[in-house]
Amino acid sequence: MNTDLSNYRKSYEKQELLESNISENPMELFQKWFHEVDTHYNTGETNAMTVSTIGLDGYPKSRVVLLKKYTHEGFIFYTNYESEKGKAITANPNVCLSFFWHEAERQIIIKGKAEKIATNLSDGYFESRPRGSQLGALVSKQSDVIESREVLENNLKALENEFEGKDIPRPEFWGGFIVKPVEIEFWQGRPNRLHDRIRYQLDSEYNWQIHRLSP
Ligand SMILES: Cc1cc2nc3c(=O)[nH]c(=O)nc-3n(C[C@H](O)[C@H](O)[C@H](O)COP(=O)(O)O)c2cc1C
Repeated sequence: MNTDLSNYRKSYEKQELLESNISENPMELFQKWFHEVDTHYNTGETNAMTVSTIGLDGYPKSRVVLLKKYTHEGFIFYTNYESEKGKAITANPNVCLSFFWHEAERQIIIKGKAEKIATNLSDGYFESRPRGSQLGALVSKQSDVIESREVLENNLKALENEFEGKDIPRPEFWGGFIVKPVEIEFWQGRPNRLHDRIRYQLDSEYNWQIHRLSP
């Protein structure tokens, strides 16, 4: 196979990111960008983000998850704590989150430390999920090898019968992680590859240091 993609080329011209127009706190800029993208661009899932972990095998691995909440403290997503990513985070909490909103020609890259959120918060979110998603979380030993799809579907049927007419409790192996940022970079595509890159870094006194990076 020899597939040449060298003619794939796009000029980024929609927006700019200037020091005169940003907040001191990156979470506020995150909120502004998220809101703009969600409101003005047709992204489908604005809250879809890539989370990269360092695996037990020493390799980085990235996969998409859904951002379910963000506050000044950090970014929350939900997953199976026993999954490949769950085990990776337990061994090494340093992770990277990234968003690419191509319609807005924007990228955000976040380095941070992940930790489990309080169990009552995971309970609250689990309770708010549709019953099918609750059962899906319960039935899936995420990242384990399974014999067939049929096994999964049979196990689901068994759980449906077991919990008929009853509330489904959150399994202990499922819950939220919060990623507390130490660095957030905002990237805005610009013409002629002279993109805007603004990086916020948390210093030892927990103040955000802001720098422009060369594209
Ligand atoms: C759009 C999209 C949203 C997803 N959202 C989640 C999510 O919120 N939580 C999750 O555990 N997996 C989610 N997944 C599946 C993950 O990408 C991944 O397959 C799964 O978490 C297992 O990853 P692991 O084996 O590396 O732990 C999503 C996948 C896509 C494509």
